[in-house]
Amino acid sequence: MTSTLIGAADLYRRVEHVVPAVEWATMADDVNAILRLKTERNAVILAHNYMRPEIFHGISDIVGDSLALAREAMTVEADVIVLAGVHFMAETAKLLNPAKTVLIPDLRSGCSLAESITAADVRELRRLHPGVPVVTYVNTSAAVKAESDICCTSGNAVQVIESLGVPEVIMIPDQFLAANIARQTGVKVITHPGACEVHERFTPNDIRQLRADYAGDVTVLAHPECPPEVVDVADYAGSTAQMINFVAERRPTRVALITECSMSDNVAQLYPDVDFVRPCNLCPHMQRNTMASIRHALETMTNEVTVDAELAERARAAVERMLAVGAPPK
Ligand code: 13P
Ligand code: SF4
Repeated sequence: MTSTLIGAADLYRRVEHVVPAVEWATMADDVNAILRLKTERNAVILAHNYMRPEIFHGISDIVGDSLALAREAMTVEADVIVLAGVHFMAETAKLLNPAKTVLIPDLRSGCSLAESITAADVRELRRLHPGVPVVTYVNTSAAVKAESDICCTSGNAVQVIESLGVPEVIMIPDQFLAANIARQTGVKVITHPGACEVHERFTPNDIRQLRADYAGDVTVLAHPECPPEVVDVADYAGSTAQMINFVAERRPTRVALITECSMSDNVAQLYPDVDFVRPCNLCPHMQRNTMASIRHALETMTNEVTVDAELAERARAAVERMLAVGAPPK
């Protein structure tokens, strides 16, 4: 019988539109090692939409936004999950599939939103607003989720809030996501002064300048972690997956994704007929995921993400309530 082992050379076509062949060649050793280690360790790689194209298209098994990665993590049968993303995503995977070993390529991959709030802050908000339900963005630690009634992502925040049937919610920790969602739901939102260090930097002027540069011939899609004034001048706002779906379905001639810049490369590989304008803000935490750090985690089985059992039970309940709300519109 002939061997059908896939190697780096076979995978190049997956990234050929966005990764030069000479660059891919420098990664071949790591790619081949990761492919071998995935088999040896019985591991799968779940990768967020912000991963670089060589990770996203080259070596991962499942890709998506925070919501999709959470849903997919629940059904993983392999022994090991490598979460190519940030720490809260790995914790969420561990909460939803606790029997698996969950590794993160670099334990320093945090998130400015997750770091903006503690469990004590949530308890204080509850004390100040008794009886008001706490809706917590998944970009938080398990300790913060454990103090919450229900979680949400940028993809399902509207559905989650509307499912509660209340006039007022505490929505934490992203002040901009909260403001954007409040406008869509008519529910009064009490929030917290957290912000994403990547999306808070975009301004309405950036968008106006883009439109001027391309004489109006550019479709602007923004992530709802951007300030409301930015969302106001965009053509559409949605989660990373919803932005990808927009491009897939509408095929704009030219598009600007107002979000982390690696995502444009990932989508450009899929739709070479679309011209991607790349306003570039990188997330330093996401960028800690590299071929070398993924290989190292799998080789050494280090950087395991664990959650205290009592905390996990309460945090899981908030995430499971979110998942029970159902799928958001594409
Ligand atoms: P998504 O859930 O839209 O993928 O967003 C996650 C994130 O961290 C955006 O900055
Ligand atoms: Fe956190 Fe912003 Fe990075 Fe997303 S892009 S992980 S919200 S810091």
